[in-house]
Amino acid sequence: MRIDIITVLPELLRSPFEASIMKRAIDKGLVEVHFHNLRDYTTNRQKSVDDYQFGGGAGMVMMIQPIDDCITKLKSERHYDEIIYMTPDGETLSQGMANKMSMLENIIILCGHYKGVDQRVRDHFITKEISIGDYVLSGGELGALVLSDALIRLIPGVLSDETSALTDSFQDNLLSGPIYTRPAEYKGWKVPEVLTSGHAAKIEKWREDMAYEHTKNRRPDLLDE
Ligand code: ADE
Repeated sequence: MRIDIITVLPELLRSPFEASIMKRAIDKGLVEVHFHNLRDYTTNRQKSVDDYQFGGGAGMVMMIQPIDDCITKLKSERHYDEIIYMTPDGETLSQGMANKMSMLENIIILCGHYKGVDQRVRDHFITKEISIGDYVLSGGELGALVLSDALIRLIPGVLSDETSALTDSFQDNLLSGPIYTRPAEYKGWKVPEVLTSGHAAKIEKWREDMAYEHTKNRRPDLLDE
């Protein structure tokens, strides 16, 4: 997978890709991430990427020209499966969306700032609008990081234990139940006996039951879906 991120703040994005799972995926050649500083595509001397709203009102709007030039250049180099705009009024990111999108070859992620982008960008370039939740961030960059992480860890070969993404919360619309590691007893607090019984079928059944209970308590809405 190749991810091209268009941003006015590339410095905010770099370091998360230089650690842990995302770094490993890049080092293994399973994903390529490229940052494009929108200011490099401005044609005005001040290198400004935003301007006042037509019709008046508070807040600046990201201009179409630098975004058009950047996206058009990228599209001339390869095909993109999706051109994504991170915005609080987009479709809320879910595990189901991440599963599907992790199979894409090339994506562009455009990070919004200020009031957002000129509507014509959304009408003519964007193929998918994604929100990471019902709250407003100061820009799309943190959303782009969340989306990238959610996708990258699902790419086959990225996680060392191939099955572990399959047992995450939200896969099968269930939250994961409790997990434990050594010691089996700590300050008198014991690990559930079934887990140390060595009885694989019982453990499996216990995990399923716990996942169901946990989901029923925390997120009953998932069981309706
Ligand atoms: N930009 C600002 N808020 C956002 C959100 N909640 N999700 C995605 N992009 C955003």
